[in-house]
Amino acid sequence: MSTTTSNPLIEQLQTLMGTDYVFTDEETRKNYGHDETEDYNFPPTVVVKPGTAQEVSAIMRLANEYKIPVVPIGARTGLSGGALSIHGGIGLSMERFTSLEIDEKNLQAIAGPAVITQVLREAAMEKGLFYPPDPSSQGSCSIGGNVAENSGGARAVKYGVTKDYILNLEVVLPNGEIIWTGANTLKNSTGYNLTQLMVGSEGTLGVITKIVLKLIPKPTHNVLMLVPFFKAGQACEAVAEIFRAGIVPSALEFMERDAIDWGMRYLDNVSIDIKDAVQAHLLVEVDGNYPDVLFSEAEKIMGVVEQFDIDEILFADTEDQKNALWKLRRTVAEAVKSHSVYKEEDTVVPRYELPVLLEGIKAIGKKYGFQSVCYGHAGDGNLHVNIIKGDMTDENWKVEVPKGIRDIFELTVSLKGTLSGEHGIGYVQKNFMDIAFPEVQLQLMKGIKQLFDPNNILNPGKILPDNL
Ligand code: LAC
Ligand code: ZN
Repeated sequence: MSTTTSNPLIEQLQTLMGTDYVFTDEETRKNYGHDETEDYNFPPTVVVKPGTAQEVSAIMRLANEYKIPVVPIGARTGLSGGALSIHGGIGLSMERFTSLEIDEKNLQAIAGPAVITQVLREAAMEKGLFYPPDPSSQGSCSIGGNVAENSGGARAVKYGVTKDYILNLEVVLPNGEIIWTGANTLKNSTGYNLTQLMVGSEGTLGVITKIVLKLIPKPTHNVLMLVPFFKAGQACEAVAEIFRAGIVPSALEFMERDAIDWGMRYLDNVSIDIKDAVQAHLLVEVDGNYPDVLFSEAEKIMGVVEQFDIDEILFADTEDQKNALWKLRRTVAEAVKSHSVYKEEDTVVPRYELPVLLEGIKAIGKKYGFQSVCYGHAGDGNLHVNIIKGDMTDENWKVEVPKGIRDIFELTVSLKGTLSGEHGIGYVQKNFMDIAFPEVQLQLMKGIKQLFDPNNILNPGKILPDNL
């Protein structure tokens, strides 16, 4: 497809939405050609910004007629390349879908996909309500992207991930039909669960135009502590022990030494004294409504971690201290990116296997000659592995590192884990899907995709391996 305005598809898009919402200039195309995945840029041929589900529907009908790919684009903070227009075509930016309504009577929110996650969280909080999923990019990611990727975040360990808060979705199907997937109810045993099929489908089965979410009452208190471990493996071992002691923390995060050091270097206003011999930290939070209960839970956690080789525990006494620690944790990915291009793996295993996973990843790094910075949602067994390019040659980056990633995923799956806990498969992990699933499951998934999208025009080339 050419990008000149004499192109009949572009003319039809302009007639449909008005020229203000159709872009073919290079700068806009480049701007919508990336998310936060490595340094990729795949510009769409044309960027459109529809304002209603009906306009999205008309775009899908046109795309079917012209057999042109359509890639739904959210806030472009994704880490698996889900929003990349790898085959060009129409970049469907959903940024005008910003409506937000809090239904206090039912403890629900009705949001357009472009609502920024933090805006939703704060709107709920103003009414004493809580939307728990809190991806690190919550200040810039959008709820539509969170649904598409089934995003998690630090609070998932107690409260669950995005899927646990999605009740109903308005979706434009690839053929242009507009449907609601379910009902605005907390329970629903009515037929196949199309709502949950859409969640995590990475913009390949339909375009989400409205989201009905569950909210819960906001817990009033929390206690936050940072525990320094002299051995990174022991920090991982302590994770399962905390649960075995009968505690479910509201966050249980792991940070390797480099993660915290690079984070501190990146943020010049957060500084913590750390002994040279400290290898890793756990950031542990408990929350609830009764401070006495929280203090006794914190004591129980101290009892567990003190069985390991640790330095003095730091308790965040003030809101400012808590915010600083969370800022440090949330900034790790950005800090690492400012240091070097990296490949981000999103491994997840049953949490007791975490020490084996960490040790295995380091051994694989040695074998293939790469450095990794590991951190993540240890309470969920979800370890982010940032593989640093640094001064590695392009050849090694392209050939050796993918072999190492394959080894890491094979280890993950051998531990009864899987490839991604919360970032999705998208473009960058699709050719590792054979590790997680035998042919039978992959064919089932392909069949679902074909049923929804027989012309393969909606976000093609994502999730499923190229050779399927
Ligand atoms: C985090 C993102 C990268 O946990 O998932 O910071
Ligand atoms: Zn994460």
